[in-house]
Amino acid sequence: MPLAITESADLTALNAFGIAACARRLITLSEESDAPEAIDQLQSAPASLLLGAGSNLLFTRDIDGTVLKVSLTGRKVFGATTAGIGPDDANVLVEAAAGEPWHDFVLWTLAQGLSGLENLALIPGSVGAAPVQNIGAYGVELGEHLHSVRALSLEDGRPCEFAASECGLGYRDSRFRSATGLSRWLILSVRFALSRNSRPRLHYPDLQSAFPPTAPPPSPLDIAQAVCTIRRRKLPDPAELRNAGSFFRNPVVDATHADRLSANHPGIPVYRDPAAPHHAKLPAGWLIEQCGWKGTRRGDAGVHTQHALVLVNYGRARGSDIAALAADIQASVIERFGVRLEPEVVFV
Ligand code: EPU
Repeated sequence: MPLAITESADLTALNAFGIAACARRLITLSEESDAPEAIDQLQSAPASLLLGAGSNLLFTRDIDGTVLKVSLTGRKVFGATTAGIGPDDANVLVEAAAGEPWHDFVLWTLAQGLSGLENLALIPGSVGAAPVQNIGAYGVELGEHLHSVRALSLEDGRPCEFAASECGLGYRDSRFRSATGLSRWLILSVRFALSRNSRPRLHYPDLQSAFPPTAPPPSPLDIAQAVCTIRRRKLPDPAELRNAGSFFRNPVVDATHADRLSANHPGIPVYRDPAAPHHAKLPAGWLIEQCGWKGTRRGDAGVHTQHALVLVNYGRARGSDIAALAADIQASVIERFGVRLEPEVVFV
């Protein structure tokens, strides 16, 4: 099938914020065999962007160049035991193409009797975007189950396979993430190391309340369902209220700064990791709520009523409206707490 190419493409439906933006050219990649041709097209355009489900970006302008939308589909389970993913026979290697919707993929792994990704249910976005920002939720990060990433170099079309250890994974970060939305790699598919044995990960406070230790251990599907319930309670559904999930990362500060904040603000939740005693992570949602932003609405740009870390588009907000609101939030959090919030969302 030839590449699908649209000139002057409307991107409103292709970004979770629902921001009206236009691309000079949109190429939709549905067949892996067309990837080299798509890369040629990207190389000849003045400014370009790789687009998955558009769940983690904010358009602040039109794209005067080519946008490549990755719509590759397909998923498969490899043999029961695969060298390199662990010592026991319960380990299973699974692969999904980059354009698969993440949540559908998670449900499919559960239907195969595989556990590992249940805490990451209902995260918006595509499989290909998952390693880019090393998605995480409810006590589990993608990196814990990532086996490898298959990609093509955008510079010369060279195929590459990165083992998880080569992906540069950090908190919402990887070698594939770029501040502009165009990294050096076109991700084709992602492989995961999952297990037929369930090892429930219930230490996140919301899950502890859902599954008291006295109850029988929940199945991976039970956990996924609980995660969906918690997410639906706290986070707006992008199909109903346009948003890109957490707008900022949770900031990491010096331990001494965290101690000072704890002394001055006794209710502040502080996450400390014994492996990194000189630093502590703070919940950005709490800082933003304390500055009075929760539920604020400015025209069609707003801060969600249930979760202060989520900025929302009530209808016709422009990217610049959301960006201006975000800048004001950053300024007030610095003024009150001396903490700089870095966006998790990529500004395009
Ligand atoms: N909080 C408030 N007010 C708010 C929101 C949160 O005080 O309006 C407090 C909560 O009470 C809690 C703390 O902040 O004590 C943390 O809140 P929550 O459990 O909702 O998690 P989060 O740190 O805000 C992170 C991820 C989410 C992920 C959840 C659950 C980041 C940037 N965000 O949010 O990921 O779903 O944990 O694990 O790390 C995303 O990345 O888009 C995303 C939604």
